[in-house]
Amino acid sequence: MKNILVIGSTGQIGSELTRRLREIYGNTHVVAGYIPGAEPKGELLEAGPAAVADVTDAQCLSDVVTKYEIDTIYNLAALLSVVAESRPRLAWKIGIDGLWNVLEVAREHNCAVFTPSSIGSFGADTPHQMTPQDTIQRPRTIYGISKVTTELLSDYYHLKYGVDTRSVRFPGIISYLTLPGGGTTDYAVDIYYSAVRGEKFICPIGQGTLMDMMYMPDALKAAIQIMEADGNRLVHHNGFNVASMSFAPETIFEAIKRHKPDFEMEYQVDPLRQSIAESWPDKMDDTCARTEWDWKPDFDLEAMTVDMLAHLEQKIK
Ligand code: SER
Repeated sequence: MKNILVIGSTGQIGSELTRRLREIYGNTHVVAGYIPGAEPKGELLEAGPAAVADVTDAQCLSDVVTKYEIDTIYNLAALLSVVAESRPRLAWKIGIDGLWNVLEVAREHNCAVFTPSSIGSFGADTPHQMTPQDTIQRPRTIYGISKVTTELLSDYYHLKYGVDTRSVRFPGIISYLTLPGGGTTDYAVDIYYSAVRGEKFICPIGQGTLMDMMYMPDALKAAIQIMEADGNRLVHHNGFNVASMSFAPETIFEAIKRHKPDFEMEYQVDPLRQSIAESWPDKMDDTCARTEWDWKPDFDLEAMTVDMLAHLEQKIK
């Protein structure tokens, strides 16, 4: 990776991935791509190049890739699961029509491409315990449908045109810097904000509902490590299961309460979020990622909780 374009650099993952990539590859080699209305600010804008990179505009993408001699694209443009249900056409336009534009530009300019998939690519028919790498994927959300299509279209461009497409299936991602927006797993971020603000947390996900989650440093590590992996070792290319922790609301609540003894939580289950959560794995099996590119996370629930609380105390006070 010499010159990298991050599409969606102001989003939940993009904002932190852009910073991390700049630390590794140098500020001038990482372009913060954005859409008008979501311009980068502060360090993200000042530390390195920034450019409009709208996945719905093929010419715009081609111009940026040419101008900055891009060889690697991180395509993070997407609507999350809950918001996508209210805007399915837009979710498809960004997720799939946009991906098509990204892959075409990559084919023309010989770029490697990372476009994340998700636990949302699974559905109610998927085995929920230790969900295998290769298994039934019949999601019923537009988010999930677009993520399965992302995996298949990325594989197609790899097999048919030799484009170096690689990706992982992200769990719910937890970070203290940029908030997620409109996802089913957002509660696992919001709960820390409530704890630090000294507020009771109203939990939209029901007791006992397990989902895979991951702390942002591990998510960034996965995204970078898969793109750096030795291609000769890869059997799969797109949609690697990556796991680090799996918990239900009562478990993360207890983990926080050990540090904040007065913390309280009450359930007010949101039916849409709950039905989506129940259709996703309880826990994924990430053996293929561990075998093919040495994936190994650094954070468990306790280590993440200590770090999240420390950073949010700084941020909020
Ligand atoms: N965090 C995403 C969501 O909840 C799942 O990948 O929509």
